[in-house]
Amino acid sequence: MSKKLYSPTDKMGDLICDNYSLLQVMSRFDLPLGFGDYSVEEVCKSNSVDCRTFLAVVNFINKGYSRTSFALEDISIQSLMNYLKKAHHYFLDFQLPNIRRKLLEAIDCSMDNDVTFLILRFFDGYVQEVRKHMNYEDMYVFTYVEHLLQGQKDEEYCIDMFVRHHDHIDEKLTELKNSIIKYYPANQNAHVMNAVLFDIFNCEKDLASHNKVEDYLFVPAVLHLEKEVASRVHEAPKVETVEVNEQEEVNKDIQDDLSQREKEIITCVVKGMSNKEIAEYLYISIHTVITHRRNIARKLQIHSPTLLTVYAIVNKLVDISEVKVSI
Ligand SMILES: [Fe+2]
Ligand SMILES: [Fe+2]
Repeated sequence: MSKKLYSPTDKMGDLICDNYSLLQVMSRFDLPLGFGDYSVEEVCKSNSVDCRTFLAVVNFINKGYSRTSFALEDISIQSLMNYLKKAHHYFLDFQLPNIRRKLLEAIDCSMDNDVTFLILRFFDGYVQEVRKHMNYEDMYVFTYVEHLLQGQKDEEYCIDMFVRHHDHIDEKLTELKNSIIKYYPANQNAHVMNAVLFDIFNCEKDLASHNKVEDYLFVPAVLHLEKEVASRVHEAPKVETVEVNEQEEVNKDIQDDLSQREKEIITCVVKGMSNKEIAEYLYISIHTVITHRRNIARKLQIHSPTLLTVYAIVNKLVDISEVKVSI
């Protein structure tokens, strides 16, 4: 791995040539190929990407995950969060389904092979865990941080709670890879199986890298923000951000089945509206929207926007033509 520390004036194309795995970082920052001879700074600027955050991630990965080249203040948390969300989308909607497709092609599907069945079952169980892990981050952690970025601290949550429960989701993939290498009986599809193994090795490395970005860049930056917000809150006179009747409405919702307000919020979510848009549309605070969404997830036991969409269609809360969440 290259040990070079990149600066804004380096050519973007050189980054890829030095370390092709940085291609993933670029696509997650929405930087399209075709850089010409433009510098990192120029490419970031023309694509409205925060250059310091981009370089913080690139240098962190490139320097073997050592956090020496930047200050926490250099990081735009919003930009880093968008990067992490894109990575989730990549793993869940592209990389893992792609590995499953190749696994199916590679393994011996004749029913007399129990190992085949177990490998697939293990993989499917693993994908479910990854989905749960990433949906939790998308739905709770990032929502909490977005709220924090607006200067509002949720008293019931802190980033330390995330740290304490943050699993290393790459480890089970290591287990699967090792099981295939050690125990999978050889057959005529060896080339295809080797290709899947390459993909699993890459995915494992990419997931481990993703975890490290969360643990060593995202979490410290959010801790720093939490302190800043807390000091602002203590300085400022206490402002009630949630109106009394909104709070009463939320409290009432804790007990019952889905309330009318919760159904309205589900409709907005599956139409693709952000928390901010929902708050403006329903004339309530973002904090209230977030609390409603938490209650909805708990009541329905649904954390994925996709499954929420299915629920909304089946229960006739929306027409399929209005749905903006991909299903
Ligand atoms: Fe993540
Ligand atoms: Fe994570």
